[in-house]
Amino acid sequence: MRLDKFICKSTEYSLAEAVALIENRRAVVNGIIVIWRSHQVHNNNVVTLDGKILTSRNSRYLMLNKPIDMICSNVDEKYPSVLNLLNVDRVTELHIAGRLDVDTTGIVLITDDGHWSFNVTSPKNKCEKVYSVVLSRPIPPDATKRFLEGILLQGESKLTLPAKLHIIDSYNVLLTITEGRYHQVKRMFAAIGNRVKSLHRQKIGHLALDVEVGHWRSLTQAEVEALSVIG
Ligand code: URA
Repeated sequence: MRLDKFICKSTEYSLAEAVALIENRRAVVNGIIVIWRSHQVHNNNVVTLDGKILTSRNSRYLMLNKPIDMICSNVDEKYPSVLNLLNVDRVTELHIAGRLDVDTTGIVLITDDGHWSFNVTSPKNKCEKVYSVVLSRPIPPDATKRFLEGILLQGESKLTLPAKLHIIDSYNVLLTITEGRYHQVKRMFAAIGNRVKSLHRQKIGHLALDVEVGHWRSLTQAEVEALSVIG
């Protein structure tokens, strides 16, 4: 972790304050004054600030059920951010691991651990995301095969990774994907001449949504670890 972030995670200082402290030569790593904010701090390093040893707070991992008309952004825009739903300290340190569109509902993971969220969202790790989709036209019989083989999305040159389609009935399907390209699910159905009427993310990896709309809970250690070892 960067030294400036480490100071924020182990004190009540803001990022700007942490940077000023570092530049004023008040942070010491393994006995050496460090003046670079981006200096990497490793687990076995001893960091002191004004001579006091710093201990980083534990990372936070949350699951939230995103309502419609809220956005997965760190700031409010035309719609309010889902982070408004969290009654926790230091919300600004948190970020969303895999955003949903304003009109999409369902499971969203929120954390302050950048490595973990990278693991969850990187297509290389093949973490499955399951979406329940309501379509405006009947699903054609060849859609399952086409999604498995990969779809060329408009304006892109690389096929989508194999996606699993489970047909419930003509207008209701479950789609499992391992990537998170921009508006991916909507664009995949558009590419086969259909349109998504409503979209809900049910699951990320083995983690199924189990809180009410607009509510959240902390993940257990086992849930956090299960999402760290995908791939
Ligand atoms: N794909 C979409 O098109 N939208 C989402 O919100 C998530 C996946």
